[in-house]
Amino acid sequence: MQAALDWLGKNHEEIVRGLAELVAIQSISTDGEHHAEIDRTAKLTCDQMRQAGLHNVEVLKVGGSLPYAYGEWLDAPGKPTVFLYAHHDVQPVNFVEQWLSDPWKLTRHDGRLFARGAADDKGAISAQLGAIAAYRKTGNNLPVNIKMLVEGEEEVGSKYLLKFFEAHKERIKSDVIVVCDTENIEVGIPSITYSLRGIVTVQVDVSSAKVPVHSGMGGGGLPDAAIALNVVLSRLYWNNGPLPIPGMYDQVRPLTEKEHAAFGKLPFDTDTFRKGIGMVPGARFAMETGYNEYAQTWRRPAVTVIAQEASSIKGASNQVLPKASAIVSCRIVPDQKPDKVLADLTAFFTKDAPWGCEVKVTPVGPPVEWWMTDPNGPAFEAALGAMRDGFDRDPVAIGCGGSIGFVGPLSELFGGAPALLMGIEDPASNAHAPNESLHEGDFKKLMASLVRLFDNLGKLTPARVK
Ligand code: BES
Ligand code: MN
Repeated sequence: MQAALDWLGKNHEEIVRGLAELVAIQSISTDGEHHAEIDRTAKLTCDQMRQAGLHNVEVLKVGGSLPYAYGEWLDAPGKPTVFLYAHHDVQPVNFVEQWLSDPWKLTRHDGRLFARGAADDKGAISAQLGAIAAYRKTGNNLPVNIKMLVEGEEEVGSKYLLKFFEAHKERIKSDVIVVCDTENIEVGIPSITYSLRGIVTVQVDVSSAKVPVHSGMGGGGLPDAAIALNVVLSRLYWNNGPLPIPGMYDQVRPLTEKEHAAFGKLPFDTDTFRKGIGMVPGARFAMETGYNEYAQTWRRPAVTVIAQEASSIKGASNQVLPKASAIVSCRIVPDQKPDKVLADLTAFFTKDAPWGCEVKVTPVGPPVEWWMTDPNGPAFEAALGAMRDGFDRDPVAIGCGGSIGFVGPLSELFGGAPALLMGIEDPASNAHAPNESLHEGDFKKLMASLVRLFDNLGKLTPARVK
């Protein structure tokens, strides 16, 4: 193992060059216009997998999916098989004027590597391949078997991932899952994520008539669909209390005292956070009394209006609008059932429609389930020990307010395999936003932790990992 760790130190610039090649390709999955680029990152990931020493490397697809890069190394008979996951697609570059460097050129500044996808999630490809190469380029052998899958459509909801898992069930079967697509709670603090929120998304359409009417004639007399929609949406407003949606908390698992205490001990710097997002001076946090930032965003449901449309500001004219729509995304938590949340949201939005307008609620895409596991047992010990040594700091177990839909189903498909979610981002990473970046020191420490994790897992038998 020491040889592998030394290799990482000596070859760091080479690993960074590999990441630079990945981020140079605009593999945006959200607009449907960059499929050629996603094909290219899939191919490049395959090339890098071969260079790192993986076998049976190929681009795979299922149905109409975007390409997956897949590679494996299966020459450790009797040792556990580790399933590694990352994604090679990225978010678009919005607010381009706010970027301080070219989003498609890996730029080193202030101890960080800047580019779209540097942290979410191309850095994870490089980190995992770095740890694999570290073994393959030194002692030739890895202490565990590896099956590595890099997805090309995570940022659009992984539509085909479950189908992919079903189609390749036997081939991908593994004993333990390692995902690098979550956060470290702070730079330098290794964090393992043991809960994720899910999502139920709905579109709310309000209509009052078929056509707009001159507001000089109809204004004051006709029902205004835009106002009606916003009356309905305004009923979501919560003021440091729970969401005012009847039934929303029926299935919410309360936090234990132990969890409240553990979350209370985690670092959170309000000023840095406010400054980081440029929060306006008068604005205050909205969380429920008795819940800190972490308890609120990891383990309580939330609604967000992620889009609203009635008529564009550009070209606005004097008319009473007959239709208005919004997309409301609801993050769900243990033990909420998506169907029940959908029913509660529908009842909430359709009740007492202003002026008797028509309100229609339609689900947007399939729901994403929440996930939560018990961060104990041999696999977690292996990971926590590896992270402690890799970061030279005690790791923490955290939750995540975001969603990674496949973790639960995949773990189930593997017969209850433990899923280890090791952080790659940090609060300053700005994933999905301008000036996305990866902390280079933590990137190195993650690779050292992965090398140690493989070593630790190699000391277990497949049966003992669970
Ligand atoms: N890497 C994120 C998940 C995440 C979010 C980790 C916040 C750490 C903090 C992931 O790529 C993501 O953005 N997931 C989507 C899922 C959706 C497309 C189904 C999300 O959470 O919105
Ligand atoms: Mn991601």
